[in-house]
Amino acid sequence: MEPAISVRGLSKTFNGTVRAVQDISFDVANGEAFGFLGPNGAGKTTTVSMLTGGLAPTAGQATVDGIDVFHHPHEIKRRIGLVFQESTADPDLTGRENLELAAALFGVPRREVEPKIDSLLERMQIGDAADRLAKTYSGGMRRRLELGVGIIHSPRVLFLDEPTLGLDPQGRAGFWRYVQELRKEHGMTVFITTHYLDEADTICERIAIIDHGRIVATGTPSELKDRLGGDVVTVHPSRTGPDVEAAIRALPGVVAVTSYDGTYRVKAPRGEELIPTLVEACTRAGVGLTAVSLKRPSLDEVFLEFTGREYREDEGMTATDRAVRLGQASQALGRSRR
Ligand SMILES: Nc1ncnc2c1ncn2[C@@H]1O[C@H](COP(=O)(O)OP(=O)(O)O)[C@@H](O)[C@H]1O
Ligand SMILES: [Mg+2]
Repeated sequence: MEPAISVRGLSKTFNGTVRAVQDISFDVANGEAFGFLGPNGAGKTTTVSMLTGGLAPTAGQATVDGIDVFHHPHEIKRRIGLVFQESTADPDLTGRENLELAAALFGVPRREVEPKIDSLLERMQIGDAADRLAKTYSGGMRRRLELGVGIIHSPRVLFLDEPTLGLDPQGRAGFWRYVQELRKEHGMTVFITTHYLDEADTICERIAIIDHGRIVATGTPSELKDRLGGDVVTVHPSRTGPDVEAAIRALPGVVAVTSYDGTYRVKAPRGEELIPTLVEACTRAGVGLTAVSLKRPSLDEVFLEFTGREYREDEGMTATDRAVRLGQASQALGRSRR
């Protein structure tokens, strides 16, 4: 089966100098949740804009749902769903009116509109607020409404560009629960950029890490973590010494041992399997253990490994990011008002 999204050698240079996206290639399978992770200015929004018919690339090719994105940008816009980080719901319309407007814009058949909107409103848990103006909604409600607007025409591929930025944990959880339900029901392919690595870890089946416009790693979250050499077992021994360290280092499965402040940090692909042999070896060497802990690497460590930088969730958006998004949002609104 053809991939839902196929990207080859895609590049975008702004003003002849800003190389926002540089020669990226990847496929996203049908029904997959694909995460696109990277720090601010990495090229995520630029990529989403190119894949959704909003921005012409400098070089490369891409198809979405089998359609060439660059030759048929209007067809792409009709087919896909897109949720921006910026609010695109009209604050002076009710939730229901926002959905009606989107349904008209996307040419949803008239007799399908009402049942569809009713069921969406209920699923989004804003049924009670359906006839209230969107400006009275909480951030989480507004995001769910915008997700409803993005999928009113039952797209097969949905793009979410940092959809939960600024939401509280509860709002984020509610948003993702709803996305997961939609995926289960409709087998929708979802392309997600997010600032929150933990989110990507739970939602996405596969991830690409983008840095300075280039993809630096691709894989499932666990593949990426495995590439770091696996888990870290931290041992607090009753005493330390070269003999203790040597005994640990000699155990099967141990990749590396570092000593730190009276403890040993032991890297092993399967930390939980190492613990029994580790305890046994220490006992044999006459060393007691006061504590043993197991830590699985998180995507934060993966990120650090592949980009050489700590991931900062709280940086928010760049000014350009904001300007680009606002431009896109007002374009979308302009389109809908015509
Ligand atoms: N319209 C534009 N004109 C000039 N530079 C841009 C434009 N849009 C984005 N950029 C630049 O391209 C790079 C990638 O931006 P962007 O795709 O928004 O990153 P991200 O979404 O990962 O934060 C940044 O350096 C940004 O400043
Ligand atoms: Mg962005």
